[in-house]
Amino acid sequence: MSRIQDLVDPTIMGDETTMHALLTELRDNEPVSYLEHPDYRPFWVLTRHEDIKYVSQKNDLFINNPRTVIVPIAFEDMLFEQFGTRNGLETLIHMDNPKHRKMREVTREWFKPGPINKLTPMVEEIAREFVDKMEAMGGECDFVKDIALLYPLRVIMKILGVVPEEEPMMLKLTQELFGSQDPDQSRGDTGEAGMGVILDFFAYFREVVEDRRRNPTDDLATVLANAKVDGEYLEELDLMSYFIITATAGHDTTSATTGGGMKALLDFPDQMRKLTGNPDLATSAAREMIRWVSPVRHMMRTATEDAEFHGKTIKAGESLVMWYPSANRDERAIDNPNVFDIERDNRNQLAFGYGGHMCLGQHLAVLEVAIFYKELMSRLASIELAGEPKWVEAVFVGGLKSLPVRYTFR
Ligand code: HEM
Repeated sequence: MSRIQDLVDPTIMGDETTMHALLTELRDNEPVSYLEHPDYRPFWVLTRHEDIKYVSQKNDLFINNPRTVIVPIAFEDMLFEQFGTRNGLETLIHMDNPKHRKMREVTREWFKPGPINKLTPMVEEIAREFVDKMEAMGGECDFVKDIALLYPLRVIMKILGVVPEEEPMMLKLTQELFGSQDPDQSRGDTGEAGMGVILDFFAYFREVVEDRRRNPTDDLATVLANAKVDGEYLEELDLMSYFIITATAGHDTTSATTGGGMKALLDFPDQMRKLTGNPDLATSAAREMIRWVSPVRHMMRTATEDAEFHGKTIKAGESLVMWYPSANRDERAIDNPNVFDIERDNRNQLAFGYGGHMCLGQHLAVLEVAIFYKELMSRLASIELAGEPKWVEAVFVGGLKSLPVRYTFR
């Protein structure tokens, strides 16, 4: 019997092992299936690499509005009432062309490899700070809570003009927004609670915008605050949404990769040895960590025309969900996908999506993870697991909640 409804169970989808068992079963036996559940509007489920890549690049046939991620009907309805869209926010992820193209243009230059590489000294300094912290902790820490959660947060907050004293508040808001199904991280599962989180973000970033209009710098906050489309500053909802998507998409994902990357190295000691012996492999290792972890579990699209997949028809107006971790373990597209190999050619992986919405922050993500592991691996002598890893309960952005480790430095 199909367990397709488990796809909306955050306990099953949060844990790497149960998630991959379910996705493998679906990928092999019913690569296109229809999920119906009393709490969710129905949607189609795609689990194969080739189908996900196809949908991702056909941005006119499969659009992002009105549904982008799996949320319960009650929450979708509340957002629709409040904002006029089922997504609540009006971020790049929620837009289609022609608006999407115009809004993406606002930060396209800033996120290109050249400008992102210029951030290297700043990111190196933050990486050093966190590796120093790990060393100072004296041989034992929770690698996720003490390091992986906080390092990428510092990087993205710096870029967005948030001072370190405000980081704990931002961390909490991000977790409340993305981990909203995890009882440890949720403000509550009501629509009102979700709205409250969004409004708190607005309140904070409004102040940053005012400041950057008065005192421009070279950070992303300045680009956003001063950006003009068709001669006008961005509208309030668009501007706030831009800040929120960067703050959240730019943090949880890289944290999950930094944490999950360490677990992968512990699970594959030969790869740990290889990286410790040659920290210059860090960029290639970062790409493999991103494939392996695939922290964004899914994105949703809605068909504008009937489309056929493996003999089944997805009708115009119906929604479908693409499961990235599944695409990245699909042996039809990726050799030995269940082997963590830091020297693998990762050009074919889909953790960043594909097509017109492909992750805007991908170069920053790779840079951040690589710089951290290069610093850590050139100083670490040994590391081992010191307790049970724990997973966040989530169906959208998943990752570790806790990874206790014991280690020595050189
Ligand atoms: C390992 C880290 C990351 C992963 C796996 C990841 C993954 C993704 C995925 C799957 C999408 C949707 C793509 C699609 O719909 O085709 C996306 C979009 C996006 N990501 Fe990332 N992301 C990461 C890091 C970042 C960072 C560091 C930032 C920003 C600083 C960022 C900003 C964005 C933005 C703004 C979008 C929306 C793009 C659009 O719709 O045009 N991401 N990301």
